[in-house]
Amino acid sequence: MTVAALPLLDSLSALADPTRCRMLLLLERHELTVSELCAVLQLPQSTVSRQLKTLADASWVTSRRDGTSRYYTLSLGSADAHTLWQLTRAQLEGKSAAEQDARRLDRVLAARRAASEQFFATASGKWDRLRDDLFGNDFAFRAIAGLVDDEWTVADLGCGTGAMTAILAPHVKHVIGVDASEEMLDAAKVRLASAKNIEFRKGSLEALPIVPESVDAATLMLVLHHLPSPADALAEAARILKPRARVLIVDMAPHEKEDYRQQMGHVWLGFSEDQMKKMLATAGFTHVKLHALPPAHSAKGPALFMATGKKL
Ligand SMILES: C[S@@+](CC[C@H](N)C(=O)[O-])C[C@H]1O[C@@H](n2cnc3c(N)ncnc32)[C@H](O)[C@@H]1O
Repeated sequence: MTVAALPLLDSLSALADPTRCRMLLLLERHELTVSELCAVLQLPQSTVSRQLKTLADASWVTSRRDGTSRYYTLSLGSADAHTLWQLTRAQLEGKSAAEQDARRLDRVLAARRAASEQFFATASGKWDRLRDDLFGNDFAFRAIAGLVDDEWTVADLGCGTGAMTAILAPHVKHVIGVDASEEMLDAAKVRLASAKNIEFRKGSLEALPIVPESVDAATLMLVLHHLPSPADALAEAARILKPRARVLIVDMAPHEKEDYRQQMGHVWLGFSEDQMKKMLATAGFTHVKLHALPPAHSAKGPALFMATGKKL
């Protein structure tokens, strides 16, 4: 190898320019675009682009694309580069050019924030609609399942076609879906065919096919109003939960839609807060909490509530 071919010499030659060193000092602090570097260094774009190319060719900077913008940052890919940069930086620090660059960088970054602050200063009245228009209204509820412990086994009791099972499965170790209806379970199996951590069991909520104290949480979504004795299902939920594990119930507040009995086999026209609290306490749950759920814009059914309880 000739001396000229030593990579270290390329690195040194790229560093042998005060402007390029000022650039690296800025790019160490923050990812910046070419136009932001121009604003901080007070140099024309052609100069900044040329110097960036020299630095990129010697592997002192990397870049990434974000839409139509490209952001540059300092790259220290080897121990030698690290050592060289420490020495160079020590020389630059405290120099007035570097201090002025740092002040102008603060102004450039403040201008970035100002664009977003200005948007939110005028968008507060329309943000909720815009958020729904852009992203729909249920992504946050789906994302919040990510707070559940990923070591958990969860029982989705009366899982039906697997709507709740589908929300939980990506975030937990194992989901056991239980339902009495072969047809509903078949639909759930089709819906969740690609998930590897779900097990569907045909069975009754009043005699669950699950061993005692084996699950970390249980859900009963829109199920209790179908059961002649919801208290029995809650007692079963308590039996399969580990000590201090929680049950989550979503069901209807009291309503007068008598026709639901014939149309959908409802046994109960909703549950009052008192009824739920008593049933949960009798089944052995403490820390019982109930919250009315705000109706979705498009919802035509009765108001819903959620209830949680912790097994003793
Ligand atoms: C209204 S669906 C709700 C399904 C699902 N939890 C959801 O949120 O979409 C009620 C489900 O409970 C099941 N179910 C009703 N009574 C049951 C019982 N005694 N044992 C097991 N499953 C039952 C039904 O088969 C049905 O799939």
